[in-house]
Parts: sequence; structure tokens; C-alpha cells
Amino acid sequence: MIRSLSHSGKADERCENRVTRLIMRNLISIADLTNAEIEEIFALADDAEELRREKPAAGRIMATLFYEPSTRTRLSFESAMHRLAGGVISCADMRASSAAKGESLADTAKVVSSYADVLVVRHHWDGAVRAMAEHADVPVINAGDGRHEHPTQTLCDLYTLRKEKGELKGLTVAVCGDLKNGRTIHSLVYALARFGANVVTLAAAGMELPQYVLERLELDYGYTLNPLATGDLSAVVTATDALYLTPKQPHQLALFTQMDAAIQSQISALASGLRYDAFYMTRKQKERIKEGAEGDSYPTIGDHFLREKRFKDTVVMHPLPRVDELSPELDRDKRGIYFKQAAYGVPVRMALLKFLFDHAGGKAGKVGNKGILYESPECLGPHCVNSNCVTVTEAGSTRRRFALLSGGPGGALILGCVYCDHRFKVQLVGHVKTKRYCAYDISLRATIGDWLKTNELAIFNSIKEAEELGYEPYESRGQRVIMNDDEIGEAVQSISREILKACQDLDTLLLLGIRTQGSLLARRVAAELEKQNRRKYEVGEIDIYGVDDEIRRISPADPDAGRLNLRDREIVLLDDVIYTGRTIKDALSIIFRSARPKAVRLAVLIDRGHREVPVKPNFVGKHIPSSERERVRVKLRATEGGEKDEAVIYSIVNPNDSAPRPRPQNAPARSS
Ligand code: NCD
Repeated sequence: MIRSLSHSGKADERCENRVTRLIMRNLISIADLTNAEIEEIFALADDAEELRREKPAAGRIMATLFYEPSTRTRLSFESAMHRLAGGVISCADMRASSAAKGESLADTAKVVSSYADVLVVRHHWDGAVRAMAEHADVPVINAGDGRHEHPTQTLCDLYTLRKEKGELKGLTVAVCGDLKNGRTIHSLVYALARFGANVVTLAAAGMELPQYVLERLELDYGYTLNPLATGDLSAVVTATDALYLTPKQPHQLALFTQMDAAIQSQISALASGLRYDAFYMTRKQKERIKEGAEGDSYPTIGDHFLREKRFKDTVVMHPLPRVDELSPELDRDKRGIYFKQAAYGVPVRMALLKFLFDHAGGKAGKVGNKGILYESPECLGPHCVNSNCVTVTEAGSTRRRFALLSGGPGGALILGCVYCDHRFKVQLVGHVKTKRYCAYDISLRATIGDWLKTNELAIFNSIKEAEELGYEPYESRGQRVIMNDDEIGEAVQSISREILKACQDLDTLLLLGIRTQGSLLARRVAAELEKQNRRKYEVGEIDIYGVDDEIRRISPADPDAGRLNLRDREIVLLDDVIYTGRTIKDALSIIFRSARPKAVRLAVLIDRGHREVPVKPNFVGKHIPSSERERVRVKLRATEGGEKDEAVIYSIVNPNDSAPRPRPQNAPARSS
């Protein structure tokens, strides 16, 4: 059943268009190569002996700059270059290079590119290799950048899969282990999606695919995650939840706020029909995990696997090094193909080098993401939320540029970092000429588009940034209170009463608030439940654009309590306002990606109607049908005895219609 799913082909086209428009002969992301080019590289690799005779690298030098340990990637690149009759220069240890004296990535790239014809770089920062490519005068190849991507490993993986299984389209591949921090996984799932394969994700607890990877899969390749029952895989993999990625298809499971029987049986049907062509196992990326944040269990492929009849044709792959994820018995079984996979590293990298030499000439690729490229016209402006992004760790070697993507949750405007792909919501927008700023709202979409065209759009992470540049707020109109302190208190009480009534097993109740106002509401409801029912309930928080933990515990705040367990829980998801429903959709996808709860019910203080996605709150404080031009803002007090709670509604005044007031005399001048 799964294998008959057809790929729409649209994603391929979009992807091809996007890549061929650009002249890029660097290889930073797997998206820098079209499917046809990947096939071309594979055809060259098939005839590596011919390449050896041809000596296409004669007279050329490759420099390998590895800021992180490596065995296979580095040695297979160096071996490939030697086999093509080229030369290799290298720093045995980048800690012994000028990097240790504080040299910037930009300077190193510039200097080394005058000594070599191609650079192969591995770095611990996300986006560092793109940053170097922008300063190098020769092609740059990404040999792994932080948690981000590892495109040449993906070429080896795809090549191995093709050799073993033939066509990639329609294959079902389970990717297992540390899907959050493993860069090989990220490049691989993008590539599998592009080639029309199905992907099952089997993440170790807390190590699921990050939201930005899922968003890119959906936006660029039309792939969405569908929940899948785990029982099917428990024989070979332990302590995981499984989710299934497919091209968008009519059977795609709709959103649901409560697990219903029909959905359960649909899921089981999907699971039992699955035949796995490959398991791609990875090690826990210890060096990228904060101490103390590691979960205790990790999936392994054990002896069961070898004996299960239905896995008789399932190959097991691993980018290596392995730790103890694979049973040693597998080494002696023909299905364990990871050493073959490592050996293909040489012919594939020979083919890649030949390909890049043949296509040299164009300047390095500068754009990797879809969407309009945004660079702030102001000296202060948005910065990437990923603390391991090169724009944060070494701002001097980068230009803060983002793909501007519309259509985030609630019609949000999203910025995607060009270097590391992380995404975050635009909060504040300003107009460069009138020096006014306001909170971004969906009703400003057209206006923002105009400002962007004329390079007059400033985006700020904080009011402080805007004010430092002398920006003043735009006026809003007709503000009125729609719920006062008493009414909000009553709503919290009635929501709590209804939760107690609806919940079948209070021992499993978990309140999950969407950051920030939703978390405050969750705490308030927890306090009220404690009053009404004389017991404490667990509270957690979901951060839709979180970089580290997307779901975290709020209370009890016991550091020894471990990760929040969602499995088989009755969850109440809370947010202050529901409008389009997209924020809720994203929160649900985070929940179901990390575990299978028994039920998820939804509580909101205010329901504004106007749904874009079919989610219906189970508990509502107040219904206030409102329009796109109106904004509802809820202010909940964060501390006991703090300010009063209040919910207000006001009209958005299109900034283009409001006349700017004169600037105050003492406002600081623009500094860019
Ligand atoms: C991988 C890497 O460095 O990301 N190794 C490799 O290149 N084969 C995988 C890993 O280190 O786990």
C-alpha cells in the first residue's frame, strides 16, 4: 500500500527550478545539486577506474580544513583527490592553525583559496562552511557543519542505496537514532524526499527531527509527517516512537484533537503494510548534546532483526562511526552494508570532484533557501535564534540574511536563516523612511510586500533595537477591553471545571501551554485545578520555534524529574487565542512527533473564529468573532499578585495610512 504512493512530481520541478536558476558550484547543502546532477555524479562514480586513467585533477590542489575529528570523510576525500592525480594540502589539526590565534573563517577561506583549487571544510558551527564559501575564490565542499548538513555523506548513502536496491523512488527507509543532532540525517531526508522515497523516522527519545527540517520538507518537497503506530517496529528498535513521512497524499491524516478509533485503525493499516528497504542507523551525537540532557534509552538494531522474516531484504546502513547501536552479528550478515557504504566514499568523492572541476566558473552559490532574500537595511536587525549558527558565533564573517517566508502559523511571517536554515517568527516591523515600527500582523502583509520591494522594510527582534535606531511606534485605533481581570478569572475556573469533567483518567493529565501566553494560562489552570481538586498536575510548555527542547517541563520544576513524558497521557493543550488554527496545528505536530498520547484536548481563552485548519477547541473562555484587521492581545499576569489580567481588541491601522508624527528632537540619529 505504501509503496504504491506516487510522488506528485511538483516538488521535483520546484526544486529543479530553484537550483538551476542559481550558478552554484559549491556543495554546501544537498539542495545545491539537482536530481539530474546527482545521477550524473553517480554515473561518473560507476566508472571510477576510467576517472583514474583520465587524471582530471592533474595540476590541481585540494585543501582539507577539518575543525572537527574525521576519519572516513577526510581520508576518502584525500584518497579520491590522489586517485584523480591531484595534490592535497591539509592542516593536521585546525587547533594548530591560525584559527587558534583567532583568525576569522573569512580570512582563512580567503588565504587558503589562494593555495588550493578546492576547499573541503568540516566545522562545528551550523552554517560555517557557507560563510567560508562566501569568502573563498574557489569551490568549497561542506564535509559536515555542526548539526546542519553533510551533503557528501548523503551522496554516498544514496549511491549505496541505489546499488543495493535500484531506483530510489518508492523505497521505504527508516532513519533511526539521533535525528535532531545528526547532520547526515538532515541532508539524507531532504534527498530521499526529492527522489520520492518514503521515510519512517524512529527517533531516540527527545531526538526527533527538528521543526525547521520538517518545515523545509513540507515547503520544498510537499512531504508531511503522519503518525504511525510503534508496535510494528518494537522487535528491532527499542524505546522509540515512529512517525511516517510521505509525499502529500489524500490519505494524509488530518489534524485531530482527540485520538479516535477510525484514525487508530488507519494508522495500524499503514504500519502493517510497511516493508522496509533500509534501516539507516546513527549514533548519539554526544558532542552536540548538553551534559545532563541525554535521555537514557537509545534505539539499537539487535539480533531480533536478523531473525525476523519480514526484514530478510532490509539492508542496514550507518554513516559510521558507530558506538553500540548495531549488534556485532550484523557485521557478518550480508544485510549489514555499512562498510561497503564507507568504501563507496572514494569513488563517489572522485566523481564529485570531477563534476565540480567540470562545472567550475560560476561563483559560489549564495542562496540556499526558498522565499525572498531579506537583508536588513538597518545596522540593527533580526538575528538568528540558533546559538550555534555562524552568524551568532562569528558575526564578522557573515552577512545576516534570511529567506522571508509567508504562511507560518496564524499567517505569521517567518525568517529562515540562509546559513543554518533555522526559522523564527517576525515580531516587529518598521518603515525605514518614516521611522515607525509596529508588531507584525497578518493584515500588514501587502504593506510589508511594498516596503520590501523598495528596500524600506526593517525587521527587529526587540523594541529596544527599534528604539535605539530612533523608531517610534505606530498608533493603533479603537482599543477596547474584551475580557477584564474578573472575566478572565471566571474563564480559568470554568475551563478547569470542564477539564476535570472531560478527563477520563486524571492520573495521566498533563497541561501543555504554547509559549508564551499559553504557558501562563497553563500555570493558571494548574493552580485552579489544584484548588478545585486538591492535587497538583504536571505542566509543560511547547516552543514552536524552540531551538533546543521544543517541549519542556514547567512544573514540578524538579531537575531530577527527567524529560516530560507524553506517552499515553491525556493532554490539554492551552493557548490564549485561536484564530487561524495554524499555531495549534504546529503544536500538535510537535506533540505527535515526540510521542503517542492517549488524547489531546484544546483549551483557549478566546476563540476568534476564522479557522484555516480544522481544529476545534474543546474548552473556550469566550467566543469573539473578529476580522483580519483586528488584533486581540491577551495580557496574563506572570506572577501571583502581579498586574491585572486583561484581553483587549483593537484595529490595525495600516501604517501607510497614518501620517508620521515629527521625530522628537533628542531621538538618536540613524546609524547605518
Ligand atoms: C558523520 C558525521 O561526521 O556527521 N560521520 C561521517 O562523516 N561519516 C556521522 C557521525 O559522526 O556520527
